Amino acid sequence: MVSAAGLSQRVARLSPSATLSISALAKAMRAEGLDVCILSAGEPDFDTPEHIRAAAIRALEEGKTRYGPTAGIPTLRQAVADKLRRENGLDYSPDQILISNGGKQTLFNLAMVLLDPGDEVILPVPYWVSYPEMVALAGAQVVRVQTQEAQGFKLTADQLRQALTPRSKLLILNSPANPTGAVYHRHELEALAEVILSVPHLYVVCDEIYEKLVYGEARHLSLGSLSPELLPRTILSSGFAKAYAMTGWRIGYLAGPKPIVEAAISLQSHSTSNVCTFAQYGALEALTSPLSAPAVEKMRQEFWRRRDLMLEGIRTLPKVSCPEPEGAFYIFLNISQTGLSSVEFCQRLLKEHHVAAVPGVAFGADHCIRLSYAADRVTLEKGLERLHRFLSSL
Ligand SMILES: Cc1ncc(COP(=O)(O)O)c(C=O)c1O
Repeated sequence: MVSAAGLSQRVARLSPSATLSISALAKAMRAEGLDVCILSAGEPDFDTPEHIRAAAIRALEEGKTRYGPTAGIPTLRQAVADKLRRENGLDYSPDQILISNGGKQTLFNLAMVLLDPGDEVILPVPYWVSYPEMVALAGAQVVRVQTQEAQGFKLTADQLRQALTPRSKLLILNSPANPTGAVYHRHELEALAEVILSVPHLYVVCDEIYEKLVYGEARHLSLGSLSPELLPRTILSSGFAKAYAMTGWRIGYLAGPKPIVEAAISLQSHSTSNVCTFAQYGALEALTSPLSAPAVEKMRQEFWRRRDLMLEGIRTLPKVSCPEPEGAFYIFLNISQTGLSSVEFCQRLLKEHHVAAVPGVAFGADHCIRLSYAADRVTLEKGLERLHRFLSSL
């Protein structure tokens, strides 16, 4: 069937990314001269560290401007494999790594090479906006599993067990999580691992793009490192955007079983080919330079301070609550006591009080909104004050 606009059925039911559209509206209001507090951003507000920028400039000047291998420059694939062994306890060879245009393309590649119509994908709710759309584009079914705020919005082993059917093909796990900031702890991953290993046909995509951003006692742990049996059942998706403030560079990577990686390379060879060649040299510098760890740590410390500032402010707000997020740079605020839908809440907050936040409905949770603390402390304090005024007026 052909839609009125001539669009395929595949895209006719696709919704544009809600996170990107609210940020665009807020930026347009700012351009009109309004003082808008943007708490909707999904990207660090820092510049890419200088040594990483310098490496890409050097590569450009050295003429690294041509097509490269689809899967990425060999030195970068090797550096990713080394990093995964060193930091995550994951044993991958460079030919099990694919460099893609951001975590987004990595995940899209995976949906395309792993899923067929009729396959089911278990998705803990709240989820990152693009997962259900990618699954739908691959023709598979999303099985949404509601997680509980009281459990820090984390999927439990029992919930996973109950969601399984003979058609379950994939589980998507995102830790640290967007939009909740949830970080799975070892005992929680071990409990999930037991269920995963009891189902021979289930794969797990672990989206670990926020791995460097964890606070307090929380530690990031890769599911695939828990046992040698788990490694062939997991596919890791990550990237440079959040850890190194490199969102615009568009560099992500996946690591997984060789047949899956090879299929994803074939697919990418017919879509985008290699990631921008000189940008890959910046990513290589990010992974190999001794200057990176202190630069990342400085940003993490600042995010941590901002998280605490936000939590302190939120405790004084009427009618809202949230679990303490342990990672990423988001707070997922329960607004159910206000009686407003998340879209009404965010529209009024933006129009009446000039604060941009993302409606939770985009993440499958209409009783919540997402606040990002990837903004300077003055903006955060102002945003909290305005939220207070709005909530008190309801
Ligand atoms: C959970 C999650 N995964 C993946 C991505 C994709 O990141 P990028 O394509 O910028 O590397 C994002 C970006 O917001 C994200 O929040």
